Amino acid sequence: MALSRFLTLFLIHIALLLGFCFAEDPFVFYNFEVIAINKQFPGPTINATTNYNVVVNVRNKLDESLLMHWSGIQQRRSSWQDGLPGTNCPIPPKWNWTYQFQVKDQIGSFFYFPSLHFQRAAGGFGGFIINNRNIIPIPFNTPDGDITILIGDWYTRNHSGKLIAFECTIWNVSASGARPNPQGSFRYGSINVTEIYVLKNKPPVTINGKKRTTLNGISFVNPATPIRLADQFKVKGVYKLDFPKRPLTGPPKMETSIINGTYRGFMEVILQNNDTKVQTYHMSGYAFFVVGMDYGEWSENSRGTYNKWDGIARSTIQVYPGAWTAILISLDNVGVWNLRTENLDSWYLGQETYVRIVNPEATNKTELPVPDNALYCGALSKLQKPQDINLATSITGGSKLFSTMLMIASALLFLSR
Ligand SMILES: *[C@@H]1O[C@H](CO)[C@@H](O)[C@H](O)[C@H]1NC(C)=O
Ligand SMILES: *[C@@H]1O[C@H](CO)[C@@H](O)[C@H](O)[C@H]1NC(C)=O
Ligand SMILES: *[C@@H]1O[C@H](CO)[C@@H](O)[C@H](O)[C@H]1NC(C)=O
Ligand SMILES: *[C@@H]1O[C@H](CO)[C@@H](O)[C@H](O)[C@H]1NC(C)=O
Ligand SMILES: *[C@@H]1O[C@H](CO)[C@@H](O)[C@H](O)[C@H]1NC(C)=O
Ligand SMILES: *[C@@H]1O[C@H](CO)[C@@H](O)[C@H](O)[C@H]1NC(C)=O
Ligand SMILES: *[C@@H]1O[C@H](CO)[C@@H](O)[C@H](O)[C@H]1NC(C)=O
Ligand SMILES: *[C@@H]1O[C@H](CO)[C@@H](O)[C@H](O)[C@H]1NC(C)=O
Repeated sequence: MALSRFLTLFLIHIALLLGFCFAEDPFVFYNFEVIAINKQFPGPTINATTNYNVVVNVRNKLDESLLMHWSGIQQRRSSWQDGLPGTNCPIPPKWNWTYQFQVKDQIGSFFYFPSLHFQRAAGGFGGFIINNRNIIPIPFNTPDGDITILIGDWYTRNHSGKLIAFECTIWNVSASGARPNPQGSFRYGSINVTEIYVLKNKPPVTINGKKRTTLNGISFVNPATPIRLADQFKVKGVYKLDFPKRPLTGPPKMETSIINGTYRGFMEVILQNNDTKVQTYHMSGYAFFVVGMDYGEWSENSRGTYNKWDGIARSTIQVYPGAWTAILISLDNVGVWNLRTENLDSWYLGQETYVRIVNPEATNKTELPVPDNALYCGALSKLQKPQDINLATSITGGSKLFSTMLMIASALLFLSR
């Protein structure tokens, strides 16, 4: 990729917003156009409510492929739309693709961003608010407003390929962060843990002459075919279900190795940071309970310090250098979900894996079928029908781009039952 591409920023543009009444739960519709321009612009804030169906049509006007990831959004019965290389095939340049998913009973402020090729570092991200339904009370007055603050430093990279800077994202906690755990009285402290993973990251290493980062000695390699699609079409050899429960000794290796999660299991994950900078870990598709953190090496005795009563449920947590953080996850959302560091440089160098949670009883009550518009790639490329990109690109004239950008407006149509 050309250096210049890293210096461009993306625009996400709401071109149109429509509403139709379909099934029981309301829909919100967004149209995104992702365009490389030399000016920063935040994407529109998606404003949804618990259980809403969100439909986002993305038109990829870049000359490289694109995936849009909905960070922290727990999608109901579907990892088909999560927008990461392990779950979705990329949207080819100039193509148009529609995400559709239903948000779960979570409340709070989240964000979306493009997950391929460091595109997040170039901009293209925006906020995603999920409001409580009126019938679900929150223990404080309705906030006067929700202010979404996204702060990003973007990468610049010089000709040696050295990466500088990293991104963080914060939100206005007083307005929208400190909301109750929607699971309410969920008594996580008295549930028996069924599987335990100690995930240790170390400072970057060199594997096959390349700088890589690792978790438990494994530097993750994205599969050419998304994991769950490979399952559905019985493609063998795409990934291994053998992610180690403890750090491997011996030389680090590059593998597409993922965690075999047990549906309805209760997983304890200890994140041990052996690097010299703070790591921020995230798990897609879930909120987990943060039960402990401390300096030093975690040991079985560390469990004595766990908070088993009122830990908060969240999807992202910090792990300090030379310290550990322990989380508990109830594996009730079927699919394949990314577990990664959010530190962009470390993430892209391999510090991630996926957790595969499959209901042994195949039913679309717990997992929706492959969407009709699923994109196919890798071993399944032959299934992909071409798209008439002339149609997709002819609608918006490039000349009007700039003025359109300045006139961006967002609107929402809410549909009640
Ligand atoms: C978001 O949706 C909620 C609930 O429908 C509404 O009250 C609020 O005004 C909306 N916020 C924005 C910024 O549009
Ligand atoms: C690129 O960055 C590396 C490491 O910071 C530095 O050693 C090198 O001189 C830089 N190269 C250029 C062309 O700026
Ligand atoms: C955060 O939100 C609260 C409540 O809406 C508001 O009073 C406060 O000014 C906001 N803080 C920032 C930094 O925007
Ligand atoms: C947890 O395991 C213990 C011992 O195996 C058992 O007595 C207890 O009932 C289990 N608790 C739950 C909530 O399943
Ligand atoms: C994955 O875990 C399930 C139990 O949840 C087990 O039946 C299965 O054999 C495991 N698969 C592998 C490859 O370890
Ligand atoms: C990393 O691990 C080594 C070996 O256990 C230990 O000596 C060192 O203090 C650790 N460093 C950090 C920052 O955790
Ligand atoms: C769910 O599965 C049932 C039977 O297996 C089928 O009739 C139904 O159409 C499926 N629903 C969806 C949304 O695919
Ligand atoms: C984008 O895709 C949707 C459905 O996938 C289609 O209805 C729409 O016409 C497409 N728009 C363009 C401009 O191609």
